[in-house]
Amino acid sequence: MKNRKPLMAANWKMNLSLDEARDLLAGIKGAAIDFDKVDVLVAPPFTTLQLARELLSGTDVFIAGQNMHWEAKGAFTGEISPLMLKEAGCTHVILGHSERRALFLETSETVNQKVEASIEAGLTPIVCIGETLEEREEEKTFDIIGAQLRESLKSKCQQGKLPEGLIMAYEPVWAIGTGKTATPEQAQEAHLFVRRWLKENVGHDTGEAIRILYGGSVRPENIKELMSQPDIDGALIGGASLRADSFLSIIRFYEG
Ligand code: 13P
Repeated sequence: MKNRKPLMAANWKMNLSLDEARDLLAGIKGAAIDFDKVDVLVAPPFTTLQLARELLSGTDVFIAGQNMHWEAKGAFTGEISPLMLKEAGCTHVILGHSERRALFLETSETVNQKVEASIEAGLTPIVCIGETLEEREEEKTFDIIGAQLRESLKSKCQQGKLPEGLIMAYEPVWAIGTGKTATPEQAQEAHLFVRRWLKENVGHDTGEAIRILYGGSVRPENIKELMSQPDIDGALIGGASLRADSFLSIIRFYEG
């Protein structure tokens, strides 16, 4: 029996107009969700954060940014600061998503700076790691995710201040948006690696408490099996989180 509360987190990426977002948020707000059994989070684009805050007020749904800069303010055209996310209603922020690493040249070093800044600002980071298909085929999966863990969490680990509330997300790049989910066994193997790494490097209790989400083609059809694995504590959902029916049926995995 896991002591960690499941978290179902919707990463909208660069999707949904304000009208579409309004419909989806209304669907989430109106749904019967047992918040004793599951935490729910949405990460809309920046321009939709205010709307999300307005429409989700009075619910237990958390709101996250999809990225941020590590500085508090300044001449960083196109960027957004931790404080700005907080002012827009965010409690969480997704950091180091593989799309940011691959398409926007984000590195584990900058992710580390962002992890540090988010914690200092009082935001909970959701730190993403994961290997590419090529890396998996070359049997480098654990080298890659080990290095991503070490580099992305470096400063807080060195200070001995990695919070229990931090959230990890294992997203194998080859499973994102491809319809190819990692098998529950493949995902569990990677999650167990992450959990052991955390226990060894930040302490047994913190490693036991940190939630590790799985991401990559999560659907209503595969969520139950994924959630039955001992070290999978929730999901980071892309495509299937853009429609109320599929997101809600993932959230309500506990019913079946
Ligand atoms: P998909 O669920 O669309 O595969 O996306 C996963 C993801 O990248 C979530 O952050």
